[in-house]
Amino acid sequence: MTFRISDSVTVPGDKSITHRALMLAACAQGDSRLSRLLPGQDCRSTAAVLRALGCDVPEPPADGGEIIVRGRGMDAWRAAAAPLDCGNSGTTARLMMGLLASRPFGSTLTGDASLRGRPMRRITEPLERMGARFRDLESPGRLPVEVTGGALTPLDYTSPKASAQIKSAVLLAGLGAEVPVSVTEPILSRDHTERMLASLGAPARFEHVEGGVRAVLGAWAGPLPPLELRVPGDPSSAAFLAALALLADTGELRITGVCANPTRTGFFTIARKMMGLVAWERGRSEGGEPVSDVVVRPSKLRAVTIGGEDIPAAIDEIPVLAVLAARAEGETRITGAGELRVKESDRIAAIVTALRAVGAQAEELEDGLVVVGSDHPLRGRVATHGDHRIAMAFGVLGALPGNEIEVDDPECAAVSYPRFWEVLRGLTGGRGS
Ligand code: S3P
Repeated sequence: MTFRISDSVTVPGDKSITHRALMLAACAQGDSRLSRLLPGQDCRSTAAVLRALGCDVPEPPADGGEIIVRGRGMDAWRAAAAPLDCGNSGTTARLMMGLLASRPFGSTLTGDASLRGRPMRRITEPLERMGARFRDLESPGRLPVEVTGGALTPLDYTSPKASAQIKSAVLLAGLGAEVPVSVTEPILSRDHTERMLASLGAPARFEHVEGGVRAVLGAWAGPLPPLELRVPGDPSSAAFLAALALLADTGELRITGVCANPTRTGFFTIARKMMGLVAWERGRSEGGEPVSDVVVRPSKLRAVTIGGEDIPAAIDEIPVLAVLAARAEGETRITGAGELRVKESDRIAAIVTALRAVGAQAEELEDGLVVVGSDHPLRGRVATHGDHRIAMAFGVLGALPGNEIEVDDPECAAVSYPRFWEVLRGLTGGRGS
């Protein structure tokens, strides 16, 4: 059976940019107009947390329509009556810690079982150096955590990891406390916070320094003006549809209006190294971010070696890259990706177990994995561990003719891509979990 793909689709708004837009709109003075926000569960968690702090932040609408956030500045934020539930969202918990570090009241942040298992010391440690106080309420370095904020001191922080969540937490603490901060990281992680702040007139910039790149937020006393933003399409969501197109037999898929920020497009760069036919077209700039269509054609993929320097720009796309590797010729080796062990699930273990469960050959490394490609039919049941990206990556693999893959918890895709299964079925003529 020949699988022909031929379509032009859009993907929902970018998750990272949506979180930041909601947060900065709640910090701003005035009415922000935001459209195409991601209506996924993670971003709803951010909106709900901000509302619990007294901010006027509507729910991101399911159809991507416009909302108005009536910002009254951070001085209008009030202590929440109950713990702030960040759900499954690491970005909500970690970036909110940065913002709450400067508020003169106490807050408790918590989340679901997956989030309560993820490390928080990486965030609380630099924020403590600025003067914020944290108390772990259950396990050391894990949520629930009580944060008591107040006046903060400037900080020049060198982060051992390339992590946008660490970097953004410190930048947002500097923003709220009106003190200069900088974060040096070994490789540039996604830079949406810096771009959004700069587009609002804040003195945010980045510079190359010995041993990495430094993001700087200079001394600035606001107020932050409101935002006018149409969120570009999420390249992480686009990666699943692009993978489907690469693995189809004939045709072409155009995904329109995707955020083409180079800190986010690692999947597409790696897919090209695998001999994937990927082209960026009709590039433009929106709200400080490059935006483009991406056109993908079915390709004969070859294995690739992915190392530490490739990881930050593809950090969320390793599950779907592993799926491509399972269909490529040769052995793909991914290293320098130890951070995957502390994502929404231990993604190294989850990917390898899932690949083996469907009959593919894969092996865990401490900081990565090895996948051997084949064209055998793949069949079996996959445990997602509630991880949206594991569910969607194996949804793509299962939607290919000849494969029969059942995903144990397809609903978890709603964390970042609420209509994923509907879109997948639309593109494959009905196949997909
Ligand atoms: C994110 C940063 C990344 C990424 C996550 C979203 C963000 O996490 O994996 O999905 O929006 O800042 P790390 O900062 O832990 O690498």
